[in-house]
Amino acid sequence: MKQKIAPTSVEVPVGDDDVIVSKTDLSGRITYVNRTFMRISNFAEREVLGKQHNVVRHPDMPRGVYRLMWDTLKAEREFFGIVKNLTSDGHFYWVLANVTADRDDDGQSVGYFSVRRHAPASTVRAVSDLYAQMMKIEREAGPAEAPAASAQFLRRLLEEQKTTYDRFVLGLYQQ
Ligand SMILES: Cc1cc2nc3c(=O)[nH]c(=O)nc-3n(C[C@H](O)[C@H](O)[C@H](O)COP(=O)(O)O)c2cc1C
Repeated sequence: MKQKIAPTSVEVPVGDDDVIVSKTDLSGRITYVNRTFMRISNFAEREVLGKQHNVVRHPDMPRGVYRLMWDTLKAEREFFGIVKNLTSDGHFYWVLANVTADRDDDGQSVGYFSVRRHAPASTVRAVSDLYAQMMKIEREAGPAEAPAASAQFLRRLLEEQKTTYDRFVLGLYQQ
C-alpha cells in the first residue's frame, strides 16, 4: 500500500539543463531512475525501485491523462504530456514528459521510459484550466469511473479541435 504524502504549495525548480529519467517494466513498475530524478523528487533509489510509478502522482493530476498515456503506449505510439509530479516531501514540479517504449535487440517492448524536462510557466497555465475541468469530472464520476470519464472528455475536446493530445501539448511550445 502506497503511503500518502500530504501535498504542499512549494514548487521545486526544474532547471533548463535538468533531464529527469525513469524506466519501468511493462506494468509501470519502476526499474531505473537517474540522479536528476532522485535530486528533484527527493526520493532515494531504494524508495522507488520496484514501486508502481504512481508513487510520484500528484493528486492535482487527472487520472484521465494517464489513461490516455497508457492507451497511446499500448497502441505503440510515444506520448507527450505536461505533468505535475509529487516529491517525497509533498512539494511539486511541472515537466514536459516524453514516454516511449524500451525495446530489446529484437524490437520487443520490454518496458517504457520517460524523459522529462522543465515545463515553462506558459504551458502550465495553458493546461491548468483543462486539468481542473478533468478533476471536476473525476470527482463527479467517483474513483472507479474517474479515469475513463475524464479521458473521454479530453478525447472529445481534442476531436472537436481536430487535434491529438500530443499535437496539443507540442503546439503549446510554438505559441
Ligand atoms: C515510463 C513511465 C513513466 C511514468 N511517469 C509518471 C510520472 O512521472 N508521474 C506519474 O504520476 N505517473 C507516471 N506514470 C504513470 C503511472 O504508471 C500511473 O499510470 C499514473 O500515475 C496514474 O496512477 P493511478 O494508476 O493510480 O491512477 C508513468 C508510467 C510509465 C510507464
